[in-house]
Amino acid sequence: MSKSKVVICEHPLIQHKLTFIRNQETNTKDFRELVDEVATLMAYEITRDLPLDTISVRTPVAETEAKVISGRMVGLVPILRAGLGMVEGILKLIPSAKVGHIGLARDHETLLPREYYINLPTDAHERLLIVIDPMLATGGSAIAAISSLKQRSCEQIKLMCLIAAPEGVRAVQEAHPDVDIYIAALDERLNEKGYIIPGLGDAGDRMFGTN
Ligand code: URA
Repeated sequence: MSKSKVVICEHPLIQHKLTFIRNQETNTKDFRELVDEVATLMAYEITRDLPLDTISVRTPVAETEAKVISGRMVGLVPILRAGLGMVEGILKLIPSAKVGHIGLARDHETLLPREYYINLPTDAHERLLIVIDPMLATGGSAIAAISSLKQRSCEQIKLMCLIAAPEGVRAVQEAHPDVDIYIAALDERLNEKGYIIPGLGDAGDRMFGTN
């Protein structure tokens, strides 16, 4: 199978806001608001290929044919906890989306992601699922989350992240060549602690004001 698509959302508004998200001087409130706004803008891009149906509509002056999004429904699946920060922003554009959650923690013995929580809409397998994780670092969590969805018969999956490292993109593409990846920036690399360079630090800590 050929490799999945990587879409870098280069819209100037996204790039401008991302710069302030990266800035270590940005406080928790502003960080949250900016992530929310970028998530809304990225939702516009990730829904670009949703199929449309044609229906009849009567305007005040004439009957016409017009487009509506066809039956395919969307589900959001944030990876806990940092993924939560992008959910509301996406829901502003897709208010009817259902939201599932996946919790992953690193197993201290295997060092692999271990799923400690999953709760999905019952019709998740019929939806286009958008897996959300702001930072695509090694790709371990995203790969595990997507595998878990596939084990539950979910087939239509996209991945949305704010910032990715090349290592993470490669790993997801190898493990899941059918899953397109939407990011706002492709950064340089991972450092020895697994942080994306230059990145934005720990997304969860910055979003929730912890450290
Ligand atoms: N997770 C984060 O929150 N930040 C990184 O740089 C890498 C993983």
